Amino acid sequence: MSVMEPDVNAVLPLPRECTFTENDWRVLARYWYPVAIADEVKDAPVAAKLLDVSLVVYRSSAGKAVVARDLCFHRGAPLSKGWMENGEIVCPYHGFKYNCEGACTSVPAHPNSKISPRLKLAMYPAVERYGLIWTCLAGGEEPRLPDFPGWEDPDFIRILPPSFDIAGSAGRQMEGFLDVSHFAYVHTESFGDPNNTEVPQYKVRREGTELFADYVSTVSNYGKGQNIPVPEGFLWLRAFRVFPPFAASLTVHFPHEGKLMILNCASPVSARYTRLFCPIARNFDKDAPVEDAIRFNLQVFSEDRAMVEAQKPEDLPLDLLEEVHIPADRTSIAYRQLLSELGLGRNYTS
Ligand code: FES
Repeated sequence: MSVMEPDVNAVLPLPRECTFTENDWRVLARYWYPVAIADEVKDAPVAAKLLDVSLVVYRSSAGKAVVARDLCFHRGAPLSKGWMENGEIVCPYHGFKYNCEGACTSVPAHPNSKISPRLKLAMYPAVERYGLIWTCLAGGEEPRLPDFPGWEDPDFIRILPPSFDIAGSAGRQMEGFLDVSHFAYVHTESFGDPNNTEVPQYKVRREGTELFADYVSTVSNYGKGQNIPVPEGFLWLRAFRVFPPFAASLTVHFPHEGKLMILNCASPVSARYTRLFCPIARNFDKDAPVEDAIRFNLQVFSEDRAMVEAQKPEDLPLDLLEEVHIPADRTSIAYRQLLSELGLGRNYTS
C-alpha cells in the first residue's frame, strides 16, 4: 500500500449517526477496507457496515461484486432485505429493481412510465481480493490494498476464517495484533508461555507509511498440547508489516522453512465496533485439515477480544503522553505516530 494523502476537506456526506469525529471519519473514508467474505456473497444481497455507513453487497449476473449504500431512495427501505433477480437487486418494499450500476430499471407500480434518473443507488467501488470484497467510501481512486503475497503463491495453501466481530475500536485491535508482550498473559490457553515473559530487543523500520518489525524470541507458535519438537536453539521470527490505518500482516517463521502468513484487517464498522477479516496462508501442513487452523485462530482472536473490549479509553490514544510506554511497545508507539501523521486524532476528545 502506498501513501494516500487524505483530503480532509473533501465534501463527503457524513453518516446520519456518525460515531467518529468528523475529522477522523473524513480521513478514514479515503482508505480501502474489506466488508464481506467473497464466498458469502452469492445469490442474495448481504448487509455490511463501514464507518457507520450501511452497505449492501451483491453480485451482477456476470458475478462482479457490487457495493452500494443499503438504502432505496424511494422510501428508505434497506435493499439488503431484498433479493436478486437476473443480476439485479429488488427492493423488498415496492419491488423497484436496480442494476449493478445502481440505476433503477423497474417500478412495478408504473410499468409504462419513465423512471426518474434520481432513482439511483449510491455506489461505491468494489474489488475482490484475498477472498474478501473491499470498498472505499470516498471512492474514485485506484484500489490501495495491503500486500499479501502468500495468497497468490502456489506453494502456500489459503485459509479463510469467518469474520470476527469485536465491540472495540479498530485501532485498539490493530495495536493488540502488533503487541509482543501480552503472549504470556492473554494467550496462555493457546500458545503463550506464562514462564516466558521477557521481550528481547527488536527494531521497527519505517518505509513510506508502512512499518516493519522483526521480532525474534523463544515463544513458540505451536498450539498448547501439540507437543511438536522444535530443533535445539530454534528462535521464532515474527515479521510484522503494518499497512495503515487498520491492516497488518504477520509472517511467523516455523522450523524447516515453514511460513505462516496472517493478514489482519480490522474493518471499522463504527468508532467502537470492528469486524475482523483474517486471511491466512501457509507453506506447510498442506494436507492438514484447515478447520484446525481456523479453530486455533478463533481461539487466539477470542482471547484478544476480551482485552480489546475492556480497554479504556476505547479509542486508541494518539497523544503519546496519554498512556505510559515500555521498550516492548516500539511497534505500537510507531503505529500511533503513523496514525497521527495520517491526520487522525486531530480533534480527539474522548
Ligand atoms: Fe424501495 Fe419503495 S422503498 S421500492
